[in-house]
Amino acid sequence: MGESVVHALDGVDLTIEEGEFISITGASGSGKSTLMHILGCLDRPSSGVLEFQGQVVSAMSEKQLARTRNRHVGFVFQTFNLINRTTALDNVCVPLMYTRQSFSRATARKALTRVGLEQRATHKPSEMSGGECQRVAIARAIVNNPSLLLADEPTGNLDSRTTGQIIQTFHELHAGGITILLVTHEMDIAVQADRMIHMRDGQVVEDVVVDDTRRAEVLALTRDTQKRIARQRGLSKKESPSARLASGA
Ligand SMILES: Nc1ncnc2c1ncn2[C@@H]1O[C@H](COP(=O)(O)OP(=O)(O)OP(=O)(O)O)[C@@H](O)[C@H]1O
Ligand SMILES: [Mg+2]
Repeated sequence: MGESVVHALDGVDLTIEEGEFISITGASGSGKSTLMHILGCLDRPSSGVLEFQGQVVSAMSEKQLARTRNRHVGFVFQTFNLINRTTALDNVCVPLMYTRQSFSRATARKALTRVGLEQRATHKPSEMSGGECQRVAIARAIVNNPSLLLADEPTGNLDSRTTGQIIQTFHELHAGGITILLVTHEMDIAVQADRMIHMRDGQVVEDVVVDDTRRAEVLALTRDTQKRIARQRGLSKKESPSARLASGA
């Protein structure tokens, strides 16, 4: 049996400027996470060149790559990836242990304050809501003051109100100077960024600036679609045999 070769990324040519807020959309398997992992120095491309702050990252040793990643990049994932048996504060301390010989808990406390969770410092993940857990994960991602924050479907497990709060946190961090890349399946979240990248089959097929007009158009369109879906759901509920039985029709 021969091994099949998957080109998870294919001819991607991107420049990301410091201070940008970019969203990445695309179908499942289009290469969004692979791109994130390469940009975040988690993986190296099998061919091609990646420069990060003027340094050729793709030529670095594992150790140099890890150092660059730990100092300059923060990651946020859909499933939070927190340590369950320990407190919010200790979770936020974890990256400090990798980058500093000695550190103070005050640094972690400051990161929790930046995401509005200082009052939850001593709580464990099981004692917090999904949105709070994600904010702990964001605090952990920013505790080393990274210049780049990568978030891979960070609101995928959250309801729409909590999603709004998390996106607001990203806006605040962005206003504070962090470059943000956000992978999402939701168009109404993608248009919150200033630049949208769309991927298909490992390629960047769209790369556009989002201005207020485009944002308003997309948001209006998503609202209409959501209303239509809700109406259709309402109708099909009423028309279903179980609904008819329940209503005695
Ligand atoms: N470790 C791996 N080994 C082999 N192929 C992989 C591996 N990880 C991803 N791939 C493949 O690379 C391609 C891109 O995957 P990737 O995870 O980047 O997609 P994605 O856009 O993040 O999808 P999703 O929306 O489902 O998270 C897919 O064809 C996938 O099957
Ligand atoms: Mg993915």
